[in-house]
Amino acid sequence: MVKNALNWCSINYHMKEQRADYHPIIDNLTTALMLFDENRCLTSINSSGEVLLLVSRNKVVGMTPEQIWPNNSFFVEAINKSYEIDTVHIQRGAEMNLPNNKKTEVDYIVTPISNNNESKQVLVELLNANSFTRVLQEFNQHTLQKAAKDSLQGIAHEIKNPLGGIRGAAQLMEKKMDDQDLKEFTTIIIKESDRLRKFVDRMLSANTHSGKADTNIHEVTEYVISIVNAENSRNLNVLKDYDPSIPNTYIDREQIIQSVLNLLRNAVQATNEKQQITIKTRVERKVTIQNKLNNLAIRLDIIDDGPGIPSEIESGAFFPMVTGNAEGTGLGLSIAQQLVQSQSGTITYERKNNNTYFSVFLPIEESNE
Ligand SMILES: Nc1ncnc2c1ncn2[C@@H]1O[C@H](COP(=O)(O)OP(=O)(O)O)[C@@H](O)[C@H]1O
Ligand SMILES: [Mg+2]
Repeated sequence: MVKNALNWCSINYHMKEQRADYHPIIDNLTTALMLFDENRCLTSINSSGEVLLLVSRNKVVGMTPEQIWPNNSFFVEAINKSYEIDTVHIQRGAEMNLPNNKKTEVDYIVTPISNNNESKQVLVELLNANSFTRVLQEFNQHTLQKAAKDSLQGIAHEIKNPLGGIRGAAQLMEKKMDDQDLKEFTTIIIKESDRLRKFVDRMLSANTHSGKADTNIHEVTEYVISIVNAENSRNLNVLKDYDPSIPNTYIDREQIIQSVLNLLRNAVQATNEKQQITIKTRVERKVTIQNKLNNLAIRLDIIDDGPGIPSEIESGAFFPMVTGNAEGTGLGLSIAQQLVQSQSGTITYERKNNNTYFSVFLPIEESNE
């Protein structure tokens, strides 16, 4: 039955004029669009549809919903219902099985289009729920973080200037003092001024630019792992799940090293020797970052099976001075985010299947040197 339907649909489709070129607006939409004709055959699918469903246009055009989604009966039913009754079906957060045996969460709208009673079409709009949530999260975070960053950098400058004076005066005092016992106090003043200066420098460090270069993301991760290994006496259990086909990208390597270092240090602090840290790299297509649609982006996940960010600080963890550690400065995530954003990327936090995910998204850009 299904086979016959496929043959009929395909023949019928191929008898019609093939329209492989879509309007640029349709093909650049983040939303996946699919149109089924009066015979329940797919007549068009845009690029985002191919990316989201992991199918190729040539293969699926002409198929029925059952053939496209043999493992998503809820979706097939929603489309079939639209042919029967003229109502729009909206669903948020539906779990869809993909051909690669993975799942993705989607929001969708199924709209019946009646031209006249005989020819009815059904339009399906699909949006990856995760990416939508991420774009929203990023937008809110970016606005708040920019305000926090500006005021912090103003404060940092105000602290730095008098600090030099305090340190210099303490040094002069030390030289002129006969009483050795008092020297203990000038030493404290000098030491604490130095500590404060370092702290302020770290706060301002997100501003430093050292220049872009053609960068291999795996060189960055390997280098960061070697630093963190050297810092820790414990044996780090880092699993590498790399996609070796990721092309080089033209970014500021030093800034990305600093960001990934901050994330990996946090993962180490959140886990013990028996727990697992995974560094995973993938290429993602059609990714919206900072309101810009990128055709290709690197996704670098730093995953650990520790407890995740404590709930009381979760919403503010990317802001400066927010820390869950008694010894922490609360600057690690804030600086990492600023550095990655200065490279047109973003970092997100997610808790999934009892794992902590910090994901760095970086557009893949070709070197123009
Ligand atoms: N991988 C992680 N697992 C659990 N909690 C984390 C993780 N990364 C960050 N955090 C939480 O977020 C807080 C802020 O991190 P960060 O900005 O690097 O500052 P700091 O490490 O100095 O506290 C940490 O104190 C910790 O509570
Ligand atoms: Mg930290």
